[in-house]
Amino acid sequence: MVKAVVLGAAGGIGQPLSLLLKINPLVSELGLFDIVNTPGVAADLSHISTPSKTAGALPPNDGLKATLKGAQVVVIPAGVPRKPGMTRDDLFKINAGIVRDLAIAIATTCPKAFVLVISNPVNSTVPIVAEILKKHGVFDPKRLFGVTTLDVVRASTFVAETLGDQKLAPKVTVPVVGGHSGVTILPLLSQSQPPLPAGFADDKRDELVKRIQFGGDEVVKAKDGAGSATLSMAYAGERFADLIIRAIGGEKGIVAPSYVNLAADKDGGEGLKKAIGKELEYFSARVEIGPEGVEKILPLGNLSTYEEGLLKAALPELETNIAKGVEFIQTAK
Ligand code: NAI
Repeated sequence: MVKAVVLGAAGGIGQPLSLLLKINPLVSELGLFDIVNTPGVAADLSHISTPSKTAGALPPNDGLKATLKGAQVVVIPAGVPRKPGMTRDDLFKINAGIVRDLAIAIATTCPKAFVLVISNPVNSTVPIVAEILKKHGVFDPKRLFGVTTLDVVRASTFVAETLGDQKLAPKVTVPVVGGHSGVTILPLLSQSQPPLPAGFADDKRDELVKRIQFGGDEVVKAKDGAGSATLSMAYAGERFADLIIRAIGGEKGIVAPSYVNLAADKDGGEGLKKAIGKELEYFSARVEIGPEGVEKILPLGNLSTYEEGLLKAALPELETNIAKGVEFIQTAK
């Protein structure tokens, strides 16, 4: 059993995510931190009759450090969400600083924790956390994860809809690789299980790929200024956190999608870099996770010619997003 901490716990994602972690039987202690409302959220959750203890803190009196103390898993959904017309990159200005400050507290309080970053733009916020941990001499690439699970969850749902059977949704698996924003999200529909129907038309395939890449926009538009995905993200975030917690507990064969530093791989990511044809430091792929973190980044498998084109289109944006995160810390005064 582990101590899990949510940073940004009073937010649209933070609250339902904290609820799901509170009812996860593998969590023994749940620490909640936000700049507002955490005592109320923690008091509310603490009445749920599950074994975990819950505590919530605000910034004064070192609330962040007290919350992080002893944490094995830290999930970060802190920061502002998108409004209609915004890209994830538009959030950088505000969220980069928030994530940097939270990463400093992690580096100095629980440097061995598994850190799960939800705050957007994930393509850049994960490098920000890594650079901070490096600065403090505590970076372990095996323990830092960008949460891309929602892309995979959406792919399963939309493919099941396409197959005309919602009941298939929990069973459909589609690897989604690359990054976590627009064209950097690469759903490998050619590897869908169950597969799409033989002779599935190219225009339908293009539509489905676009829907997975820009699924977040559907929610942003429907919420009409009130934010982005929160409930589906809380579901996806807990699903990923649960896999991490089970891996820490020694369960074998845990494979999850995640945006990771390629140095986490056994071969330093050389195989993957070769497959994508570029020296990127971060990429999202299916990763095998064990008690010490990432054990292996799994190969992408066979890409169709169409998917190779998508990959080519994604790489420049991904590279720019990564550099933006790295430079934010490296060039800071
Ligand atoms: P929200 O605005 O409802 O909640 C964010 C929370 O963070 C607020 O309670 C706020 O007080 C808190 N916060 C702000 N600064 C903080 C700090 N310095 N320390 C601790 N907490 C702080 O936003 P929502 O909808 O929960 O989204 C949060 C983030 O998650 C956004 O960046 C959003 O873009 C991202 N997101 C990521 C997804 C993914 O697939 N990775 C999917 C959906 C959203």
